[in-house]
Amino acid sequence: MTATTTPLGLTTSAAPFIEQARESGNLFITQPYEMYSEDNHDTWRRLYARMQEPWARFANARFLEGLATLRFDLDRVPRLEDVNAFMAPLTGFRAKAVAGYVPAYQFFECLRKREFPTTITIRDGGRLDYLPEPDIFHDIAGHVPMHTDAAFANALVRFGEVARAAAERLADGANGEIDADRLARLGSVQRALARFFWFTVEFGLMRDPTGASLNGVRAYGSGLLSSLGELGPACESPNVQRVPFQIEWVVNQGFDFHSMQPLLFIIDSFEQLFDEVGRLEQWVREGRLDHVAGGEPAVSQEDLESFVAAVVAAP
Ligand SMILES: [Fe+2]
Repeated sequence: MTATTTPLGLTTSAAPFIEQARESGNLFITQPYEMYSEDNHDTWRRLYARMQEPWARFANARFLEGLATLRFDLDRVPRLEDVNAFMAPLTGFRAKAVAGYVPAYQFFECLRKREFPTTITIRDGGRLDYLPEPDIFHDIAGHVPMHTDAAFANALVRFGEVARAAAERLADGANGEIDADRLARLGSVQRALARFFWFTVEFGLMRDPTGASLNGVRAYGSGLLSSLGELGPACESPNVQRVPFQIEWVVNQGFDFHSMQPLLFIIDSFEQLFDEVGRLEQWVREGRLDHVAGGEPAVSQEDLESFVAAVVAAP
């Protein structure tokens, strides 16, 4: 007689496999697909099904094209290798399984190499709307469809170049010593990068050339595209301010992770996004991000240390 075992599941905050990987220092892992429980698959199915109508109304056209290209299974958590089989030939990007948070510099380095750190756990099926941290629905359904677009993928790679430029510039003349002034400037640059990433890749809006949308915008930011409660209001609510993207404003604008975003920035195209990330790199090199406004987001010790290590190692 064959014994059958029920998979333990890979539920966010309740996945011993992930805990063990982290404790062993294994940040980059292989997706242990057989560990997903039927509950996990059912959570994916419900999350995916309820976004169909809001995506059709509010998602950017390139996102919808990406969804069609990737052909996710509607009923089962995706296998990263299947996703990559469709995505890699288009832009070279690959989803790379991780056991939790990737410190900022390492995250940007992954982007530079066209690797997207991807959370493999999925939220608890009893709390579909509660998302204190990324899960595979946010990372795969929210982010990855955009990675099939060449201009967007190139913009992500350019974020990696910006982080590298920051490390090189702050290493200049440091001789491996990070004094208080250099540390403060490093914190400022990281705050600016986090804000720019937040107001574009996570919560960006794009002008809708068809003009059919209520305010003439659709979402491309993954935080919006993976949120049933925020996607519609981001595009249509009169309580949200929507303004043209302006780098001077974005790098100085704080945000609150835990609230609906009251202010969103609009770009015209991913070609514009690519150019703006290029401008960000130029600003890094000119020292124009060394003293941006204080406030949110706070730079975590883990993120700061990842950048310090890069500065010390920079040529
Ligand atoms: Fe995200």
